[in-house]
Amino acid sequence: MNLDTLKATAEAMTGKGRGILAMDESHGTCNKRFEALGIPTTPEMRREYRTMLVTAPGIGNHFGGAILFDETLRDKTTGGKTFVEVLNAQGIVPGIKVDAGAKDLAFGEEGETVTEGLDGLRERMQEYGKLGARFAKWRAVYRIGEYMPTQAAVSTNAHALARYAAICQENNIVPIVEPEVLINGTHSIEQCYEKTQYVQQAVFAALAEQGVALEGIVLKPSMVISGDKATGRAGVEQVAAMTLRCLLSTVPSSVPGIAFLSGGQSDEEATAHLNAMNKAGPHPWNVTFSYGRALQHAAMTAWAGKKENAEKASNIAGHRAAMNGAAARGKWSAAMEKAA
Ligand code: 13P
Repeated sequence: MNLDTLKATAEAMTGKGRGILAMDESHGTCNKRFEALGIPTTPEMRREYRTMLVTAPGIGNHFGGAILFDETLRDKTTGGKTFVEVLNAQGIVPGIKVDAGAKDLAFGEEGETVTEGLDGLRERMQEYGKLGARFAKWRAVYRIGEYMPTQAAVSTNAHALARYAAICQENNIVPIVEPEVLINGTHSIEQCYEKTQYVQQAVFAALAEQGVALEGIVLKPSMVISGDKATGRAGVEQVAAMTLRCLLSTVPSSVPGIAFLSGGQSDEEATAHLNAMNKAGPHPWNVTFSYGRALQHAAMTAWAGKKENAEKASNIAGHRAAMNGAAARGKWSAAMEKAA
């Protein structure tokens, strides 16, 4: 392990008001989103769509990294260059999703999962490194319920996240450690705080146990937020304040970057929350975004699988990148959305 390399990569991914584009949807997830918009679920359409994203105007100013799925890491854009080349040319670090998805946890509470993919991971990581990936991602998922997440779900997922992170670092690949506490449910923001803190504490204990160097990871957490079906949902300032309070209680200052997932928030909500957190800075870590849906949804809808819409969709993707880049500096305002 070369800690200087890991530190430099983590800083390139999350520093200077730049965030990470999550475009690593598995075929299943990508197909679901395409089908909802009537887009054919073919490799050619995925290539066209993802080419539109990585060639959006100005994204090199706002993205420090982009997370790819296996197919895309190996693929060429419609322009003939590889995705890795197109990203590197814009100063965007290419990364790879390496987990094999969240699977039912035996004897868990309803809907609880454990993320799989450790078998053969060292060999896959070595190949991904050769293909140009300099960071990786592994997502663990936790549901909030009266008895959830269970201790079994919390400890099993923490252990897997930590083993994955250690294998990444052994290969000089920065692990994005992603414990996602789902927004789905009627829970209050206080309940979300308590469960999120519990999950994050377990993750950092497991990382220590596996000898992971915190200076060479990026944490990708969910925000502390009211359930999507809760009544009287907390406002922007409360989400920002409680998320920061939680992270300050669990995340050592040696971690270089925290890049949030959007987790089903609307585009503008996700931007506003990130902005409020950065306005309250400085913080011990870079505080930025690694959104999937909140960066892509509007662009995918505008594209709708049609070549003639690609330029418009690309502009929309570039706009969301710029808005979140501003929020990563605490310089976003709602007026900037309307001006676009
Ligand atoms: P969302 O921002 O859509 O939650 O996706 C982020 C991600 O990478 C999930 O693993």
